[in-house]
This record gives sequence, C-alpha cells and structure tokens, in this order.
Amino acid sequence: MTPTEASAAALDLCRMAPVIPVLVIDDLAHARPLAEALVAGGLPVLEVTLRTPAALDAIRAMAAVPGGVVGAGTLLAPEDVAAAKAAGARFGVSPGATDRLLDACESNDLPLLPGAATASEAMRLLERGYTTQKFFPAEASGGAPALKSFASPLPRITFCPTGGIDLKKAPDYLSAPNCLCVGGSWVAPKDAMQAGDWGRIEALAREAAGL
Ligand code: 3PG
Repeated sequence: MTPTEASAAALDLCRMAPVIPVLVIDDLAHARPLAEALVAGGLPVLEVTLRTPAALDAIRAMAAVPGGVVGAGTLLAPEDVAAAKAAGARFGVSPGATDRLLDACESNDLPLLPGAATASEAMRLLERGYTTQKFFPAEASGGAPALKSFASPLPRITFCPTGGIDLKKAPDYLSAPNCLCVGGSWVAPKDAMQAGDWGRIEALAREAAGL
C-alpha cells in the first residue's frame, strides 16, 4: 500500500463518525460488549491501544462485532504493526512517526493515522504522502487554536486531534476546517468498564456521535 492509499483509507475512516474512541482494555472479557456498546451508540471506528497485555486479543474479539472497524493504537515499532495486522486490525494509529514505522505499515497494507504535533512533523509526513494525520497531544500542543493555525499554511492536511479532548472541548476542534474527527477516551471510562455498565458507555457514545 502506498502512503497515498494508506492516507486515503485513513481519511475514509475519519469521516465515519465525529469521535474515534481511544480504548485501553485491561480485561479481555470487556472487549466484545464494549465494542457492541460503542457501535450501537453510533461510533463504529474503534482504536484499541497496544498498552495492555490484553490489547491484541481484544482486537481479535472486537473485530468480530458487526458494524465495527477496529484498529490498533499506540503503534511504536514495526513489530507492533505486524502483530496488530495479524490480530485483525484494519487500521493503525501512532503518537508520532518514524520511517521504520511508516515502512512497516505500508508493507503490511495497514492504513495509518500517523501523529504530528508541529508544522515540521506534519510537513515531513505530507512529503511522504500522508495527508490525513493525528494531531497529538492536542490539548498540550495548543489545542483547537493551534490546530486552526495549521489550516491556512497546511491546507492539504486534515487532522484527527487526540489527547486531552472531552465532550466539552470537542466542538471547538470540530469547528476547524482542517478537523475531520477527534479521538478521545472519555466515551469509555474505566469505572464504567469495570462495572460492566455498557448502557452508560452506549449513552456516552450516542452523545459523542451527535457532536
Ligand atoms: C491517548 O492516550 O492516546 C490519547 O491521549 C487519548 O486519550 P485521552 O482522550 O484520555 O487524552
């Protein structure tokens, strides 16, 4: 897959819903009901972070949920890309980008949403063909005003800002001309997962889907 193809696929995913849930799954038993709740609430594109021992099996379990598109987040190294792909991830997300990581995604045919926090990082990715990028860490890097400042000088790049965004902050980002959707963990609170309160998570997803 070329970078242009990878980026076009990421663009399509980012257009499916206003929010991509960023999920940290500790208990594999939570994976399927969590995915079902989020999809039922109107958020089909799900990012499972590779930060817990259960993450790859969680991707496997969630990939079977009808209507969902499950990807792997926190891709840091080429090994992560191969493992994510083998688990059934349909896209990848990374906090930043290295040439080795980009090479791995392209050779594994895994669409990627690569992270950038500065104009130079975004330009490097653009040079390689990545026109759809994750703006990370969004809040710490200047928030919605910083993202909006990229729109005029970098008109060919559209972003999914992630990092410190919640329901209240999301509308400001989504009003930016270069913002496709936002990423965030607020739709899947740890306490709700631990309590098995899938109804609450579905309600949070529905609220986010209405943004
Ligand atoms: C992350 O941890 O990848 C992002 O920062 C999203 O999580 P947050 O919505 O909790 O910031």
